Amino acid sequence: MQTVNFTRMEDGTREDYEFLDRMEDEYKSGLPERIINALRKLEHSLAGYRISRLEHCLQGATRAHRAGESDEMIVAILLHDIGDELATYSHSEMAAAILRPFVSEKLYWIVKHHGVFQMYYYAHHCGGDRNCREIYRDHVWYQDAIDFCHNYDQNCFDPDYDSESLEFFVPILRRVMSQPSFDDAEQLARYGASGSNVSA
Ligand SMILES: [Fe+2]
Ligand SMILES: [Fe+2]
Repeated sequence: MQTVNFTRMEDGTREDYEFLDRMEDEYKSGLPERIINALRKLEHSLAGYRISRLEHCLQGATRAHRAGESDEMIVAILLHDIGDELATYSHSEMAAAILRPFVSEKLYWIVKHHGVFQMYYYAHHCGGDRNCREIYRDHVWYQDAIDFCHNYDQNCFDPDYDSESLEFFVPILRRVMSQPSFDDAEQLARYGASGSNVSA
């Protein structure tokens, strides 16, 4: 079988769906490679900074690695701005969605909200409210999100920092991505329609 026979999903057979399952498993195994290619494209994204977005991500991941952070944390930082190209208005959510099956609920939450927490460093210069993050003041991971941005994001624009290469992080990325904890169906079973078991 090269393709299924149906044109409407409701007409598909068990054989069709078993075949598609095998195709999907093969496609899933290529995810790390697609992530690496997407990271490479960050070499040419937002202009104006003294380093590229890729270099920014590598610098954060390198700082985390040298500070002895977990593989999950290193990968979360490596990917935290991967949404810049296509989710230009919601890049934090895109990165969080990509990471979700591979990291803790806590890291997922931090990455999902890092854009708001980052505003503390610049919004007051642009007529915005640098204290937007205060809406999460009582959240159990409020301080962790502050630490994430302070230690591995806002300080990672230094052209003189000796970051590790993307290749250095590939084995770590592959390791973390080799064990997805759930897919869409399991996410629904676990967290229900709200998509989370954590309240703000
Ligand atoms: Fe960001
Ligand atoms: Fe960033």
